[in-house]
Amino acid sequence: MADSTLKEFIENIPKAELHLHIEGTFEPELMIKIAERNNKKIKYSSVEELKRAYSFKNLQEFLDIYYEGANVLITEEDFYDLTWAYLTKIHQQNVLHVEIFFDPQTHTDRGVSFSTVINGIYKALEDGRQRLNISYKLIMSFLRHLDEASAFKTLEEALPYKEWIDGVGLDSSEVGNPPSKFERVFAKSREKGFKVVAHAGEEGPPEYIWEALDLLKVERIDHGNRAIEDHLLMKRLAESQMPLTLCPLSNLELKVVKDLKEHPIVKMMDKNLLVTVNSDDPAYFGGYMNENYLGIAKALNLTKIQITELVKNSFKASWLSDSEKEEKIDLVNHYFQND
Ligand code: ADE
Ligand code: ZN
Repeated sequence: MADSTLKEFIENIPKAELHLHIEGTFEPELMIKIAERNNKKIKYSSVEELKRAYSFKNLQEFLDIYYEGANVLITEEDFYDLTWAYLTKIHQQNVLHVEIFFDPQTHTDRGVSFSTVINGIYKALEDGRQRLNISYKLIMSFLRHLDEASAFKTLEEALPYKEWIDGVGLDSSEVGNPPSKFERVFAKSREKGFKVVAHAGEEGPPEYIWEALDLLKVERIDHGNRAIEDHLLMKRLAESQMPLTLCPLSNLELKVVKDLKEHPIVKMMDKNLLVTVNSDDPAYFGGYMNENYLGIAKALNLTKIQITELVKNSFKASWLSDSEKEEKIDLVNHYFQND
């Protein structure tokens, strides 16, 4: 397929994003603007310097810079502007539905209140729904490098906003912080009516994916790349149609894969796993949804049928209602048939 045809096909197909950290959408230009507005110093003083710093050997090197960037977010307006910038960006990429993570502890631990964070994000999401027609779900993610007590405290703080939060997740430094550390917090979260997901098998071993399934009882695995090393786990994921939210450019930038040609996505599709394409932290990894689809499509010679399958998976694996899923998948089928 000619590159221009592929690019146009990817750009125009309607799609959903299910793995996105709002703090990871913080573009250098906006970071500098907000830092100035709040009289906050940042380590890197120009857009070019910031971008040069975005070269990572592993997940931890990225996280150190990502948390530093988030330090300049102080007011409700900051969280609104961050979220609104992301929504306007993906609106141009034909993303119709998003499920967004936010990391409250990154902000509450430095004295920004839970209400400031969630009010800003929520107001932007509601504006996006009304003005851009982007539907959404909101997922509060616990930082796994912090302790269980901090996660419990965060869960308490979230309860008054329960109507706005659809699920809880688990992110940050994976190795050494297995899902089992948060078994009780997740049990409590489920008891309170939250859906649950967890990052697992990005850098951590397949055992962490088993734990996320069996101990945390997740409804989706974020990343899950290392499932490919465990035949029985692959079988379990396929049989249960447990969704995996894969993030190709993130995996490349954080050296989870050496080259996109080595990405496991096609092997997983061939084994009947329900896999999806997502951007994770697009401001840091060089691309939003379309760039992720294009990167993986070129590296692995994906056909239009395979791309359409991935896009349909993004709606299937979402938390939309069955009728909403059907409506969106009809749109995708219609797009494919008329291409
Ligand atoms: N927080 C933001 N991006 C992350 C990732 N890729 N893995 C773990 N935690 C994260
Ligand atoms: Zn992530």
